[in-house]
Amino acid sequence: MKIAKTIGSVRKLVRQARSKGKSVGLVPTMGALHQGHISLIEKATKNTSFVVVSIFVNPAQFGPKEDFKKYPRPLRNDLKLCENAGADVVFAPSAREIYPQENLTWVNVEKLSQPLCGRSRPGHFRGVATVCAKLFNIVQPDAAFFGQKDAQQAALIRRMAADLNFPLKIIICPTVRQPDGLALSSRNQYLSPQEKKDAVCLYKSLRKCRQMVVLGENSSKKIIAQMRNILSAPASAKIEYVEIVDVKTLQPLTKIDRSALVAIAVRIGSTRLIDNILIDVPK
Ligand code: PAF
Repeated sequence: MKIAKTIGSVRKLVRQARSKGKSVGLVPTMGALHQGHISLIEKATKNTSFVVVSIFVNPAQFGPKEDFKKYPRPLRNDLKLCENAGADVVFAPSAREIYPQENLTWVNVEKLSQPLCGRSRPGHFRGVATVCAKLFNIVQPDAAFFGQKDAQQAALIRRMAADLNFPLKIIICPTVRQPDGLALSSRNQYLSPQEKKDAVCLYKSLRKCRQMVVLGENSSKKIIAQMRNILSAPASAKIEYVEIVDVKTLQPLTKIDRSALVAIAVRIGSTRLIDNILIDVPK
């Protein structure tokens, strides 16, 4: 596995792979890799023949009061994990390499950036969309792989790729969970042992939602009320939002009468966690 720190060097490696007839997959990450990321890399190795993993803690997607400084950066361990998962190249640029001067060109995916996490994280999705557009232009992959755990990000990147005619496939892979249901996240490492137990309420509430839908309930209001009960049980939990929205537009649904995204954001102590499930409603 090769490590590229500059745009020039990753482009050269991709060019060489292309000249051998290889297809290129990109897995964009911010490092602190866990099994969820590994599943994306493994999927990329199945779907493409040359896999680039980018590791870049993107300053542009963190708010001034967010955890940019303390975000974990265990690069050595990440490199090992990438190699074991079958990556061909890790692209780990500096912030200067990606933002050599004040960035004046931003990608704003209107309407999809505002709801859900957009309300408490202004500017976050602008930073995500911009860095992904840059990575797509730098690596020029045939396919890019993202996790369903970040459902709003997934919807937004899909839309950006379509709106801006990026010639690549966006592949969204299922959320990977611990045996107790907690969705894997690099931010789980901020949780104390008690908070880790409390954090299971996110998945419990999503399970409750699925169970209610299976039993025939389709009123979002009723489902959300039950979910809120579960989410507010642990003393450490503070709900930011519980919403049932249309998968594509991210607009609230009063009734689950079409495919829906059930999305939640909850603070456990001082750690903000998100999770979601998709509910398929056959037409
Ligand atoms: O999901 C993430 O880790 C980041 O938002 C991404 C897509 C790598 C962009 O910085």
